[in-house]
Amino acid sequence: MPDTPKLYKVTIDNITTEVEPGTTILMAARKIGGDVAPPAMCFYSKLKGSGGKCRTCLVRVAKGSAVDPRPMPKLVASCRTNVMDGMLVESMTNPDVLEARNAVVEFLLINHPLDCPVCDQAGECDLQDLSYEHGKEGTRYEFKRRTFEQEDIGPYIKLHMTRCILCYRCTYVADQLTDKRVHGILDRGDQSEISTYISKAIDNDFSGNMIDVCPVGALTDKTFRFKNRVWFTKPVNAHRDCATCCGKVILWNRGDEVLRVTARKDEWGEVQSYDGKPGWICNTCRFDKKHLNDWVIEGLTNIKRHSVIGQGKYPGLVMPNETITEVMGGRDPKLMMDIHSISDVNDRDINLSAIPGPATSETFTPNP
Ligand code: SF4
Ligand code: FES
Repeated sequence: MPDTPKLYKVTIDNITTEVEPGTTILMAARKIGGDVAPPAMCFYSKLKGSGGKCRTCLVRVAKGSAVDPRPMPKLVASCRTNVMDGMLVESMTNPDVLEARNAVVEFLLINHPLDCPVCDQAGECDLQDLSYEHGKEGTRYEFKRRTFEQEDIGPYIKLHMTRCILCYRCTYVADQLTDKRVHGILDRGDQSEISTYISKAIDNDFSGNMIDVCPVGALTDKTFRFKNRVWFTKPVNAHRDCATCCGKVILWNRGDEVLRVTARKDEWGEVQSYDGKPGWICNTCRFDKKHLNDWVIEGLTNIKRHSVIGQGKYPGLVMPNETITEVMGGRDPKLMMDIHSISDVNDRDINLSAIPGPATSETFTPNP
């Protein structure tokens, strides 16, 4: 029987988990889940080599390993740093890490325009979410921002370079999903820009996935641009038999009209995997199948309640009036965790607001 590899114990924000050697701190934090997982603007687990560009995933390593307990002298990019056995990591519990994330957002916004009201990505933009969570209300930047002409790259994709944060994800899609890459990052430093070589159009079966991986509104779907705001659409899961891709998609509908087709995303905003393979979709499914009868509808897509897209999608939902801070006597919660999977006493099927009186151990004792 082959030896099972020794697992490494790593503790992130006081929560311990075990992962295989070679796992990055970011993926270990995602295993724990919730707010412990650092934000990631350039890393994309389904794209080999991605990460290490944006620095939004910085964390502090307070103890290197059980063998060498020295802390790491600087904050590290968690998407590019592997865990060691006995490592102690601080993510959202360390004020220096939060301060650094603020600074990274400020840095990203130096050149990124705040044009969310007219940007097609609004409501599903990672940078918009990150700025709400970690951004400052003002900017200290006084110089002229760089701007670019909008460019058509291929029949389906519009490039708005002014919004690009140079995360490189789209170039990895082109390298890893299509047979030849015809676009890339040209020039250096603040002159860097995404463009196609000699204005070659991007035209191959999987190029549309660049739109899905772009964390901001730099690459948008020309067939959907300015047709609607995402929060006015009704997203439904649907599938079709496709010889080229997995055929599992989200249809973004308005009435009977299919306005947009995208791949399905997981809780980290990445394309969902099926049978261990990423569910990238082909351009035929994405751009050519825009009729409801092209698809088998499975039902409404689950939309994150705190996302702007969730607006109006939860009719009848009664939210508590008091905030957690009020309940905690003015203190802010430092960490929110879902403990159902590790707790023996809590049962997610029991609605604590609906039982008479306070909960006791009997509340959670299964009926004989
Ligand atoms: S266009 Fe989008 S995906 Fe490509 S590098 Fe810029 S931000 Fe990243
Ligand atoms: S997500 Fe780690 S550096 Fe960008």
